[in-house]
Amino acid sequence: MLKIEGRKARKHKGRGARHAPAATHCTLFSVQHWLFAAMGIAFLLTARCTPPPDGGGNDGTEPVFPTNYRSVFAEVRDCRLGIEHGGVMFRVYANEIARDAYLDNQDPLPVGSVLVKEEFDGPGCTDDSDLFQWRVMRKEAPGFDPDDGDWHWQRVLADRRVVEDTKASCIRCHRDPECLRRDYMCTEP
Ligand code: HEC
Repeated sequence: MLKIEGRKARKHKGRGARHAPAATHCTLFSVQHWLFAAMGIAFLLTARCTPPPDGGGNDGTEPVFPTNYRSVFAEVRDCRLGIEHGGVMFRVYANEIARDAYLDNQDPLPVGSVLVKEEFDGPGCTDDSDLFQWRVMRKEAPGFDPDDGDWHWQRVLADRRVVEDTKASCIRCHRDPECLRRDYMCTEP
């Protein structure tokens, strides 16, 4: 009897030892903790960077293209990989004023032309959650920027915050002779 109890006890102890990965539970638990902490930090960062509802956070600069551009613009360059803008998938939309002139490689394009380059950080151009920003050009009236074809340049994030509103970072590439002869338009047909 005693022996059996002893064996049972040992067996129990053994099983206890096998269940011992209390340490593992502990580790899992703290991993979860870290995840929560990371999510919290991510949330705080996002919250801090989200513009207030009045559209502020970008000095009130509005994007030069409408929110519904996909239904009123035409796709003039289909989905492809662009290496110049950092290895992103992109496609180009043109408004009614620009469409035919853009497709004909005209120089200059008419005043009021708007070109919207959608940039995706995923494998294609169909998943809108991969659409992270737009690069946009709008042809303004003569005198806006006579040195560079009177184009208004913008880089706009997916939440429509305008983060660049000048040609400063854009123009060195778009002055390439290949682009210049098509009024600063760079995308190959
Ligand atoms: C490193 C060079 C480079 C810079 C910087 C650059 N672009 Fe471009 N851009 C290109 C090239 C090349 C294309 C053609 C598509 C491609 O290969 O990505 C293009 C295409 C475009 C298009 C599509 C219309 C067309 O055919 O040209 C727009 C709109 C555009 N860029 C706007 C901008 C704006 C706005 C900026 C600045 C915020 C900018 N780009 C900065 C090289 C550049």
